[in-house]
Amino acid sequence: MALKAELHCHIEGAASPELVAEQARKYGVDASPYIRDGAFVWSDFTSFLAAYDFSASLFRSEEDYARLADSYLTSLARDGAIYSEIFISPDHAATAGLSPGAYTDALGEGMRRAQARTGIEARMIVVGIRHLGVGPVEAAARFAARCRHPLVAGFGMAGEERAGDLEDFVRAFEIAREAGLGITLHAGELVGAASVAAALDHVRPSRIGHGVRAAEDPDLVRRIADSGVVLECCPGSNIALQVFPGFAEHPFRALRDAGCKVTLNSDDPPYFRTSLKREYEIAATHFGMSEKDLTAITRTAVEAAFADRKTKAALLGRLGR
Ligand code: ADE
Ligand code: ZN
Repeated sequence: MALKAELHCHIEGAASPELVAEQARKYGVDASPYIRDGAFVWSDFTSFLAAYDFSASLFRSEEDYARLADSYLTSLARDGAIYSEIFISPDHAATAGLSPGAYTDALGEGMRRAQARTGIEARMIVVGIRHLGVGPVEAAARFAARCRHPLVAGFGMAGEERAGDLEDFVRAFEIAREAGLGITLHAGELVGAASVAAALDHVRPSRIGHGVRAAEDPDLVRRIADSGVVLECCPGSNIALQVFPGFAEHPFRALRDAGCKVTLNSDDPPYFRTSLKREYEIAATHFGMSEKDLTAITRTAVEAAFADRKTKAALLGRLGR
Protein backbone atom coordinates (compact mmCIF):
# COMPACT_ATOMS: atom_id res chain seq x y z
CA MET A 1 0.00 0.00 0.00
CA ALA A 2 1.42 3.38 -1.02
CA LEU A 3 2.21 5.78 1.81
CA LYS A 4 -0.03 8.86 1.64
CA ALA A 5 0.16 12.60 2.29
CA GLU A 6 -2.66 15.13 2.32
CA LEU A 7 -2.48 18.90 1.72
CA HIS A 8 -6.17 19.84 1.60
CA CYS A 9 -8.62 18.92 4.34
CA HIS A 10 -10.85 21.33 6.27
CA ILE A 11 -10.70 20.21 9.90
CA GLU A 12 -14.30 21.15 10.69
CA GLY A 13 -15.31 19.29 7.52
CA ALA A 14 -13.53 16.17 8.74
CA ALA A 15 -15.86 15.63 11.72
CA SER A 16 -17.93 12.50 11.16
CA PRO A 17 -21.74 12.61 11.47
CA GLU A 18 -21.42 10.40 14.59
CA LEU A 19 -19.02 12.86 16.25
CA VAL A 20 -21.17 15.86 15.26
CA ALA A 21 -24.30 14.11 16.62
CA GLU A 22 -22.41 13.47 19.88
CA GLN A 23 -21.45 17.18 20.06
CA ALA A 24 -25.09 18.15 19.39
CA ARG A 25 -26.26 15.95 22.29
CA LYS A 26 -23.54 17.42 24.52
CA TYR A 27 -24.75 20.98 23.84
CA GLY A 28 -28.48 20.17 23.66
CA VAL A 29 -28.84 21.09 19.98
CA ASP A 30 -31.22 19.41 17.50
CA ALA A 31 -29.06 17.97 14.69
CA SER A 32 -31.94 16.40 12.72
CA PRO A 33 -32.08 19.11 9.98
CA TYR A 34 -28.44 18.36 9.09
CA ILE A 35 -27.89 14.69 9.95
CA ARG A 36 -30.26 11.96 8.78
CA ASP A 37 -29.70 8.19 8.77
CA GLY A 38 -26.11 8.71 9.92
CA ALA A 39 -25.21 11.03 7.02
CA PHE A 40 -24.99 14.79 6.50
CA VAL A 41 -27.93 16.31 4.62
CA TRP A 42 -27.08 18.65 1.73
CA SER A 43 -27.79 18.87 -1.99
CA ASP A 44 -25.58 21.62 -3.48
CA PHE A 45 -22.64 23.83 -2.49
CA THR A 46 -24.84 26.30 -0.58
CA SER A 47 -26.59 23.62 1.49
CA PHE A 48 -23.25 21.83 1.96
CA LEU A 49 -21.86 25.04 3.49
CA ALA A 50 -24.91 25.30 5.77
CA ALA A 51 -24.38 21.74 7.07
CA TYR A 52 -20.65 22.46 7.43
CA ASP A 53 -21.29 25.67 9.40
CA PHE A 54 -23.79 23.82 11.62
CA SER A 55 -21.22 21.12 12.44
CA ALA A 56 -18.50 23.68 13.10
CA SER A 57 -20.78 25.54 15.54
CA LEU A 58 -20.83 22.44 17.77
CA PHE A 59 -17.08 22.48 18.46
CA ARG A 60 -16.90 25.02 21.26
CA SER A 61 -14.25 24.13 23.79
CA GLU A 62 -10.51 23.59 23.52
CA GLU A 63 -11.00 19.91 24.32
CA ASP A 64 -13.62 19.60 21.51
CA TYR A 65 -11.03 20.82 18.98
CA ALA A 66 -8.17 18.78 20.42
CA ARG A 67 -10.31 15.63 20.14
CA LEU A 68 -11.34 16.53 16.58
CA ALA A 69 -7.75 16.95 15.35
CA ASP A 70 -6.57 13.90 17.27
CA SER A 71 -9.34 11.62 15.96
CA TYR A 72 -8.99 12.77 12.33
CA LEU A 73 -5.20 12.50 12.21
CA THR A 74 -5.16 9.17 14.05
CA SER A 75 -7.59 7.67 11.52
CA LEU A 76 -5.58 9.18 8.65
CA ALA A 77 -2.38 7.59 9.99
CA ARG A 78 -4.15 4.24 10.28
CA ASP A 79 -4.95 4.58 6.56
CA GLY A 80 -1.25 4.96 5.74
CA ALA A 81 -0.77 8.74 5.83
CA ILE A 82 2.57 10.10 7.02
CA TYR A 83 1.76 13.81 6.60
CA SER A 84 -1.30 16.07 6.72
CA GLU A 85 -2.03 19.75 6.36
CA ILE A 86 -5.36 20.79 7.83
CA PHE A 87 -7.22 23.99 6.97
CA ILE A 88 -8.27 25.79 10.12
CA SER A 89 -10.81 28.61 10.26
CA PRO A 90 -10.57 31.17 13.09
CA ASP A 91 -13.91 32.61 11.89
CA HIS A 92 -15.70 29.34 12.57
CA ALA A 93 -14.02 29.09 15.99
CA ALA A 94 -15.09 32.67 16.83
CA THR A 95 -18.71 31.85 15.96
CA ALA A 96 -18.44 28.89 18.35
CA GLY A 97 -17.05 31.20 21.07
CA LEU A 98 -13.31 30.48 20.99
CA SER A 99 -10.48 32.97 20.38
CA PRO A 100 -8.17 32.28 17.42
CA GLY A 101 -5.24 31.65 19.77
CA ALA A 102 -7.13 29.18 21.97
CA TYR A 103 -8.48 27.42 18.84
CA THR A 104 -5.02 27.05 17.28
CA ASP A 105 -3.43 25.88 20.55
CA ALA A 106 -6.20 23.30 21.01
CA LEU A 107 -5.80 21.91 17.49
CA GLY A 108 -2.04 21.85 18.03
CA GLU A 109 -2.59 19.79 21.19
CA GLY A 110 -4.72 17.29 19.21
CA MET A 111 -2.01 17.11 16.55
CA ARG A 112 0.61 16.37 19.19
CA ARG A 113 -1.57 13.59 20.67
CA ALA A 114 -2.04 11.99 17.24
CA GLN A 115 1.67 12.23 16.50
CA ALA A 116 2.58 10.65 19.84
CA ARG A 117 0.26 7.71 19.10
CA THR A 118 0.91 7.21 15.37
CA GLY A 119 3.94 9.25 14.29
CA ILE A 120 1.92 11.33 11.78
CA GLU A 121 3.43 14.76 11.00
CA ALA A 122 0.92 17.58 10.55
CA ARG A 123 0.72 21.33 10.02
CA MET A 124 -2.07 23.95 10.03
CA ILE A 125 -3.04 26.35 7.26
CA VAL A 126 -5.14 29.27 8.50
CA VAL A 127 -7.91 30.07 6.02
CA GLY A 128 -10.01 33.16 5.51
CA ILE A 129 -13.57 32.60 4.31
CA ARG A 130 -14.12 34.43 1.03
CA HIS A 131 -17.86 34.97 1.36
CA LEU A 132 -17.39 36.69 4.73
CA GLY A 133 -15.65 39.53 2.87
CA VAL A 134 -12.25 41.22 2.63
CA GLY A 135 -12.16 42.48 6.26
CA PRO A 136 -12.49 39.03 7.90
CA VAL A 137 -10.07 37.44 5.39
CA GLU A 138 -7.45 40.12 6.18
CA ALA A 139 -8.08 39.59 9.91
CA ALA A 140 -7.44 35.85 9.44
CA ALA A 141 -4.21 36.68 7.59
CA ARG A 142 -3.10 39.05 10.35
CA PHE A 143 -3.76 36.35 12.93
CA ALA A 144 -1.83 33.78 10.89
CA ALA A 145 1.06 36.22 10.52
CA ARG A 146 1.34 37.06 14.23
CA CYS A 147 0.34 33.80 15.95
CA ARG A 148 3.78 32.16 15.64
CA HIS A 149 2.39 28.74 16.52
CA PRO A 150 5.11 26.31 15.43
CA LEU A 151 2.61 24.17 13.53
CA VAL A 152 0.96 27.04 11.58
CA ALA A 153 2.74 26.91 8.24
CA GLY A 154 0.44 28.51 5.69
CA PHE A 155 -2.42 30.82 4.81
CA GLY A 156 -5.24 30.18 2.37
CA MET A 157 -8.72 31.18 1.33
CA ALA A 158 -11.76 28.89 1.21
CA GLY A 159 -15.50 29.50 0.97
CA GLU A 160 -17.70 30.66 -1.89
CA GLU A 161 -15.42 31.18 -4.89
CA ARG A 162 -18.13 33.19 -6.66
CA ALA A 163 -18.07 35.90 -3.93
CA GLY A 164 -16.16 39.19 -4.36
CA ASP A 165 -13.29 40.20 -6.66
CA LEU A 166 -10.02 38.36 -6.14
CA GLU A 167 -7.99 41.59 -6.46
CA ASP A 168 -9.62 42.85 -3.26
CA PHE A 169 -8.17 39.91 -1.32
CA VAL A 170 -4.57 40.34 -2.51
CA ARG A 171 -3.51 42.35 0.56
CA ALA A 172 -4.46 39.45 2.85
CA PHE A 173 -2.11 37.15 0.96
CA GLU A 174 0.68 39.77 1.05
CA ILE A 175 0.36 39.98 4.85
CA ALA A 176 0.74 36.20 5.10
CA ARG A 177 3.57 36.00 2.56
CA GLU A 178 5.47 38.73 4.39
CA ALA A 179 5.30 36.58 7.54
CA GLY A 180 6.92 33.68 5.69
CA LEU A 181 3.79 31.54 5.39
CA GLY A 182 3.06 29.23 2.45
CA ILE A 183 0.22 30.39 0.21
CA THR A 184 -2.68 28.45 -1.32
CA LEU A 185 -6.25 29.35 -2.28
CA HIS A 186 -9.39 27.67 -3.58
CA ALA A 187 -9.87 28.38 -7.30
CA GLY A 188 -11.17 26.47 -10.28
CA GLU A 189 -13.70 24.43 -8.29
CA LEU A 190 -17.02 26.29 -8.59
CA VAL A 191 -15.73 28.76 -11.20
CA GLY A 192 -13.90 27.91 -14.44
CA ALA A 193 -10.40 28.46 -15.80
CA ALA A 194 -10.56 32.28 -15.47
CA SER A 195 -10.66 31.92 -11.69
CA VAL A 196 -7.42 29.88 -11.72
CA ALA A 197 -5.75 32.40 -14.05
CA ALA A 198 -6.79 35.25 -11.72
CA ALA A 199 -5.33 33.35 -8.74
CA LEU A 200 -2.00 32.94 -10.55
CA ASP A 201 -1.97 36.54 -11.79
CA HIS A 202 -2.92 38.28 -8.56
CA VAL A 203 -1.93 35.99 -5.68
CA ARG A 204 1.04 34.02 -7.08
CA PRO A 205 0.48 30.96 -4.84
CA SER A 206 2.70 27.87 -4.83
CA ARG A 207 -0.43 25.70 -4.66
CA ILE A 208 -4.05 25.94 -5.72
CA GLY A 209 -6.96 24.29 -3.92
CA HIS A 210 -8.70 22.20 -6.61
CA GLY A 211 -7.63 24.15 -9.73
CA VAL A 212 -9.09 21.33 -11.81
CA ARG A 213 -11.25 23.55 -14.00
CA ALA A 214 -8.01 24.93 -15.46
CA ALA A 215 -8.46 21.91 -17.76
CA GLU A 216 -11.00 24.04 -19.69
CA ASP A 217 -8.11 26.13 -21.09
CA PRO A 218 -5.11 24.34 -22.69
CA ASP A 219 -2.90 27.47 -22.49
CA LEU A 220 -3.56 27.71 -18.77
CA VAL A 221 -2.78 24.01 -18.29
CA ARG A 222 0.58 24.64 -19.99
CA ARG A 223 1.17 27.66 -17.74
CA ILE A 224 0.49 25.56 -14.61
CA ALA A 225 2.78 22.78 -15.83
CA ASP A 226 5.58 25.25 -16.68
CA SER A 227 5.27 27.16 -13.40
CA GLY A 228 5.30 24.05 -11.18
CA VAL A 229 2.28 25.28 -9.21
CA VAL A 230 0.82 22.28 -7.39
CA LEU A 231 -2.86 21.36 -7.66
CA GLU A 232 -4.58 20.07 -4.53
CA CYS A 233 -7.02 17.78 -6.36
CA CYS A 234 -10.04 16.40 -4.52
CA PRO A 235 -11.78 14.10 -7.05
CA GLY A 236 -14.37 12.61 -4.67
CA SER A 237 -15.41 16.11 -3.56
CA ASN A 238 -15.68 17.26 -7.18
CA ILE A 239 -17.99 14.40 -8.14
CA ALA A 240 -20.13 14.77 -4.99
CA LEU A 241 -20.51 18.53 -5.68
CA GLN A 242 -21.18 17.79 -9.37
CA VAL A 243 -18.26 19.85 -10.64
CA PHE A 244 -17.94 16.98 -13.16
CA PRO A 245 -20.61 14.38 -13.97
CA GLY A 246 -18.40 11.38 -13.11
CA PHE A 247 -14.83 10.16 -12.67
CA ALA A 248 -14.63 9.43 -16.41
CA GLU A 249 -14.98 13.17 -17.06
CA HIS A 250 -12.61 14.24 -14.24
CA PRO A 251 -9.42 15.89 -15.61
CA PHE A 252 -7.00 14.49 -12.98
CA ARG A 253 -5.29 12.16 -15.45
CA ALA A 254 -5.24 14.75 -18.25
CA LEU A 255 -3.69 17.39 -15.99
CA ARG A 256 -1.03 14.95 -14.81
CA ASP A 257 -0.28 13.79 -18.33
CA ALA A 258 0.11 17.45 -19.39
CA GLY A 259 2.87 17.82 -16.78
CA CYS A 260 0.93 19.52 -13.99
CA LYS A 261 1.91 18.59 -10.44
CA VAL A 262 -1.16 16.92 -8.91
CA THR A 263 -1.90 15.63 -5.40
CA LEU A 264 -4.81 13.68 -3.86
CA ASN A 265 -6.94 15.07 -1.06
CA SER A 266 -10.24 14.45 0.74
CA ASP A 267 -11.48 18.09 1.27
CA ASP A 268 -14.41 17.41 3.67
CA PRO A 269 -14.38 13.61 3.78
CA PRO A 270 -17.67 12.53 5.44
CA TYR A 271 -19.74 15.04 3.44
CA PHE A 272 -18.47 13.54 0.20
CA ARG A 273 -18.44 9.94 1.51
CA THR A 274 -14.71 9.81 1.01
CA SER A 275 -11.39 9.54 2.84
CA LEU A 276 -7.79 10.02 1.76
CA LYS A 277 -7.61 6.22 1.39
CA ARG A 278 -10.61 6.29 -0.94
CA GLU A 279 -9.05 9.11 -3.02
CA TYR A 280 -5.99 6.95 -3.60
CA GLU A 281 -8.32 4.04 -4.54
CA ILE A 282 -10.22 6.32 -6.94
CA ALA A 283 -6.93 7.33 -8.56
CA ALA A 284 -5.99 3.67 -9.02
CA THR A 285 -9.42 2.54 -10.26
CA HIS A 286 -10.57 5.50 -12.35
CA PHE A 287 -7.34 7.27 -13.37
CA GLY A 288 -5.14 4.20 -13.91
CA MET A 289 -2.51 5.13 -11.30
CA SER A 290 -0.07 2.33 -10.38
CA GLU A 291 1.44 1.91 -6.88
CA LYS A 292 4.54 3.67 -8.21
CA ASP A 293 2.40 6.55 -9.56
CA LEU A 294 0.64 6.86 -6.20
CA THR A 295 3.93 7.04 -4.31
CA ALA A 296 5.09 9.71 -6.78
CA ILE A 297 1.91 11.68 -6.00
CA THR A 298 2.68 11.40 -2.27
CA ARG A 299 6.22 12.63 -3.01
CA THR A 300 4.79 15.63 -4.90
CA ALA A 301 2.61 16.44 -1.88
CA VAL A 302 5.55 16.28 0.54
CA GLU A 303 7.71 18.41 -1.76
CA ALA A 304 4.91 21.00 -1.92
CA ALA A 305 4.24 20.88 1.83
CA PHE A 306 4.56 24.07 3.88
CA ALA A 307 6.55 22.26 6.60
CA ASP A 308 10.23 23.09 7.25
CA ARG A 309 12.97 21.59 5.09
CA LYS A 310 14.22 19.13 7.71
CA THR A 311 10.75 17.65 8.29
CA LYS A 312 10.20 17.33 4.54
CA ALA A 313 13.59 15.63 4.05
CA ALA A 314 12.71 13.07 6.75
CA LEU A 315 9.33 12.39 5.12
CA LEU A 316 10.89 12.06 1.67
CA GLY A 317 13.37 9.59 3.19
CA ARG A 318 10.42 7.39 4.21
CA LEU A 319 9.15 7.36 0.61
CA GLY A 320 12.44 6.01 -0.76
CA ARG A 321 13.86 6.82 -4.17
N1 ADE B 1 -14.91 24.98 2.66
C1 ADE B 1 -15.03 23.70 2.99
N2 ADE B 1 -15.04 22.92 1.89
C2 ADE B 1 -14.92 23.75 0.83
C3 ADE B 1 -14.85 23.57 -0.57
N3 ADE B 1 -14.92 22.35 -1.13
N4 ADE B 1 -14.75 24.66 -1.35
C4 ADE B 1 -14.68 25.87 -0.80
N5 ADE B 1 -14.73 26.11 0.51
C5 ADE B 1 -14.84 25.05 1.32
ZN1 ZN C 1 -11.45 22.73 0.19
